[in-house]
Amino acid sequence: MKGVILAGGTGSRLHPLTKVTNKHLLPVGRKPMIYHPIEKMCAAGLKEILIVTGCEHIGDVMSLLGSGKDFGCSFTFRVQDEAGGIAQALALAEHFAAGDAVTVILGDNIFEGSIAPMIRAFEEAGGKGAVLGLKKVAQPQRFGVAEVRGGRIVAIEEKPANPKSDLAVIGIYIYDSSVYDIIRGLKPSARGEYEITDVNNTYIAQGALRYHDLEGWWTDAGTFESLAQANELVTRE
Ligand code: DAU
Repeated sequence: MKGVILAGGTGSRLHPLTKVTNKHLLPVGRKPMIYHPIEKMCAAGLKEILIVTGCEHIGDVMSLLGSGKDFGCSFTFRVQDEAGGIAQALALAEHFAAGDAVTVILGDNIFEGSIAPMIRAFEEAGGKGAVLGLKKVAQPQRFGVAEVRGGRIVAIEEKPANPKSDLAVIGIYIYDSSVYDIIRGLKPSARGEYEITDVNNTYIAQGALRYHDLEGWWTDAGTFESLAQANELVTRE
């Protein structure tokens, strides 16, 4: 199992905070945002981690993180030339993963619990298919929203105007090596991005998607409100 942290994108919802820096370098508690998912991966025993980010700030990201020595892991860095979507960023991990499964965390996801049980669940089920995390949220229309029936996710809608549930798909995903073939088959969405929700719906169609309840609180940090909430939650810890 290898780790992938996606830290590209434009951060437009946080302008002007992100005018001259990358969103994932902004502070959350006493650390830069990106430290939080990295520390979760390292605590779960992932030693090889790919960081994907845009070309504008990759120098700053590398200066901050270094080789990984300070975290007890090893970093590889890749540039995503344009913010063409989460699935496009993940496609850049294919060579790095070299046939292994990957645990993917969106770099603006901040959470309390350990990802180790989720990785265990994936491995105990034979290391095939995909596992993702769900959390009840107050504003599901901001997220990918899962419809669950009989203990299985039957569909996911990206930012629906009329959500079918209050279960957000959180930005922690585990994929087997078939994910890159799935991404190659995607078309850009109406907003011009390669969507991770389309990847997850393909796994659903194959009967290969499971979900896991992550313990503790979870938030993204990509809007002013959620960034403030993330700061409050980590400071309370
Ligand atoms: O946080 C969970 C949500 O994240 C999910 O519920 C949604 O299904 C998923 O689409 C995503 O929604 P967001 O609108 O929050 O995604 P955002 O564009 O903010 O991107 C999230 C992270 O992904 C961001 O911190 C950096 C990375 N990213 C994003 C894009 C668009 C990239 O690395 N490259 C990209 O091109």
